[in-house]
This record gives sequence, structure tokens and C-alpha cells, in this order.
Amino acid sequence: MKTKKKIALIFGITGQDGSYLSEFLLNKNYIVHGVIRRSSSFNTSRINHLYQDPHTKSRKFILHYGDITDAISVSSLIKKIQPQEIYNLAAQSHVAVSFEVPEYTANVDAIGALRILEAIRFHKLEKKTKFYQAGTSEMFGKVVETPQNEKTPFYPRSPYGVAKVYAHWVTINYREAYNLFACNGILFNHESERRGGTFVTKKIVSALCRIKVGKKKKLYLGNLYSKRDWGSAKDFVEAMWKMLQKKKPDDYVIATGKQFTVKQFVNFVLKRLKMNFKWRGKGLNEKCYHKGKSIVEIDKAYFRPLEVNTLLGDSSKAKRQLNWKIKTNIHQLIDEMVNKEMAHLRDD
Ligand code: NAP
Ligand code: GDD
Repeated sequence: MKTKKKIALIFGITGQDGSYLSEFLLNKNYIVHGVIRRSSSFNTSRINHLYQDPHTKSRKFILHYGDITDAISVSSLIKKIQPQEIYNLAAQSHVAVSFEVPEYTANVDAIGALRILEAIRFHKLEKKTKFYQAGTSEMFGKVVETPQNEKTPFYPRSPYGVAKVYAHWVTINYREAYNLFACNGILFNHESERRGGTFVTKKIVSALCRIKVGKKKKLYLGNLYSKRDWGSAKDFVEAMWKMLQKKKPDDYVIATGKQFTVKQFVNFVLKRLKMNFKWRGKGLNEKCYHKGKSIVEIDKAYFRPLEVNTLLGDSSKAKRQLNWKIKTNIHQLIDEMVNKEMAHLRDD
């Protein structure tokens, strides 16, 4: 007997995680629907390889225009698609930018989650549709304990972090009030070759590769001493799916349990590129030299009004209950990112 394919709907499908989650679900034989925003330039580069022409029979990958700030579009898409699983990955996801556009960030990152939850309830899909909310370690902000787990209190330090705390609690609220199958993933930083160019790992890899081949002279960074628990996006999207396959909905921290400073990340990439280097100076004058020339310098512009100095996750609950495992360490992640960047440069 043929089993019916499961249907998933992804908000934020054009982003780093949306693209990997799409691949993961298609491999599991899902029909994947995704919401894209209208943009004056193409914003689908991460999912172009998955695209299926609307004239293709029995499509498995279907895109819809929509926006998470538009309640009616959210609601009508959910009504039309009636998915078994909804993944809310849509966000203004840049912490520094959230200080520049705080109200917009709240609208997308906080109320966006509410719009989806309310649409599930309004269309009486509580028993059919499971919901995943893309929560973040930024909610721990000025951490009150280390490492952070599901019970660690939140202390967000940016409009982004504050908005995500709202989304986290409203997800729990709908779970408790309406018996909705709704889960929060509390994901620590996760990276890949598809990471947006203004996040620090991608910015470092991209600039140092270009410096290596003589296409760039200098990389400017902000705080070198913040510590992050960096994992691989591919490993982390699997955890999102696993949460929705459990009998009962719950919240899970997803992290590697290892942390490094931004400066260590720079050092790892330089070593991977076989570039000799030496750091000299202090504070804003700290510089990294290669062959006698400074290649990394500090620019105050990249400091934030408030910093999250340290993040380190304890994901033992996810390991125990979801049987989730980390497959990629930081050096493998850097390898993957550097290889891709160098291949791009060769193609250029
Ligand atoms: P990303 O690459 O910035 O992708 C964000 C996605 O949201 C993009 O598809 C973007 O569309 C979409 N989006 C933004 N505003 C929207 C709106 N108003 N309506 C509909 N879609 C909108 O982020 P990511 O790294 O994949 O992260 C995925 C989610 O996980 C985000 O919610 C992020 O906050 C959260 N998270 C990420 C990390 C991490 O380290 N990556 C860690 C914890 C939590 P466009 O392509 O059109 O801009
Ligand atoms: N972006 C950026 N650019 N960050 C820099 C720079 C720079 O030039 N120089 C230093 N940093 C520091 C930031 O101050 C921060 O402490 C750290 O590098 C990481 O910055 P990002 O890569 O921008 O990531 P993030 O930790 O602020 O936020 C990411 O991870 C969160 C999970 O903890 C984003 O993906 C968020 O969406 C996600 O929720």
C-alpha cells in the first residue's frame, strides 16, 4: 500500500537553514512548500538547485510568495496547504542589524511566530499541524550560567534576542492553551558555506581566502574576544525535524558544547590556508600580520551597543531524547567553508 507523502511548509526557505532543511525533507520523501518574499533582485540562490518548474507533474518542491508580516498571506497559505509540519525559520536574523531596525525585527521575529500559531488555531489545524519555532542562544544573552541548557533563564541583549524570547514564550503559550504540537529549538550559532556574508564566520573565511589569492588586502572586524559555540547548519536542521517526530512537543537546546573566540576562528582559518601570521598590539590597535603586512584590523563600527560575550550550549537533553548527534567539528566546518570559497574564487 502506498503511504501518503508528508507535507511541510517552511517560512524562511531561502535562508541558510531553509535550504538545508528543504534538502533534508526532500530526502525523506516530503512534499516541501516554501514561502519566498518578493524581491527586486533574486533571493533564491540557496534553493535554485531544488527548483521545479510549475508545469512539472507531481511537484515535490513548491514555492509561494508571502511574508510573515502579512497575517492574511500567512493564514491563507496555511489554509491552502494544510501541512503536517510548519517550520518557522523566517527572521531578520542579524543581531547587529536589529539595533538599527528594532521595530521591524520585532514584527518579523516576534509577531511572525504569533501569526503562524494563530493561523493554525484559526483554521482548526491543532490536531493536524505540528509547529517548529527557530529559537536562539541569543535569548541567553548576558548568560546567568555556563553552559546554558533548557532551564537556564533568558537575559537577551538585543532587539533580536528580545523578539525571539517573545516567540519562544508564545509558542509555549499556544502549546499549553490549545494543545498544539509546538516545539522551540534553542539553537546555538551554526554555519556553512551558505551562511550570509555579513555573519562573522563567513566574513572571515571569505576575506582571508581573497587575501590569500591576492584579491583583497585587509579584513576589518569588531570584537575579537566574544566566544561562540559554532556548529554546522546541516547537523542542526536534522534536530529541527527530530523534534517534530517525538510523541510529545518540547523545547531543546542544540549546540556542540565547545566554544572558541572570534580570534581563534581567524587563527584556524589562517592555519587552514597555510598562511603564517602574528598578532601584535592591543585593544583597537590589535592587528594580525602576514608577510610583514597587517591583514586583520579592528574597526569600531563592528562593535554592537551591547555584546553577548560568551555562549556555550549543553544539548544533553537533545542527545538523550532525540538521539541527535554532532557530526561536524569546527575544523571540518572550516574546511567545508574554505573549500567552497576557494572553488568560487577559481571559477571567477
Ligand atoms: P537567514 O539565512 O538570515 O534566513 C532568514 C530567512 O528568513 C530568509 O529566507 C529570509 O528571506 C526570511 N525572511 C526574513 N524576513 C522575512 C519576512 N518578513 N517574511 C518571510 N520571510 C522572511 O537565517 P538562518 O541562519 O537560516 O536562520 C534560520 C532561523 O534560525 C532564523 O529564524 C534565525 O533567527 C534562527 N537562528 C539561526 C541561528 C544561526 O546560527 N544560523 C541560530 C539560532 C537561531 P530572504 O532570503 O528574502 O531575506
Ligand atoms: N557579524 C559580525 N561582523 N560579527 C563580528 C564581527 C564582524 O565584523 N567582528 C566580531 N564579531 C562578533 C560579534 O560581535 C559576535 O560576538 C560574534 O562575532 C558573532 O557574530 P555573528 O556572526 O554576527 O553572529 P551572532 O552570534 O551575533 O548571531 C548569530 O547566531 C545567533 C545564535 O547565537 C545569528 O545567526 C543569529 O541569527 C543567531 O540567533
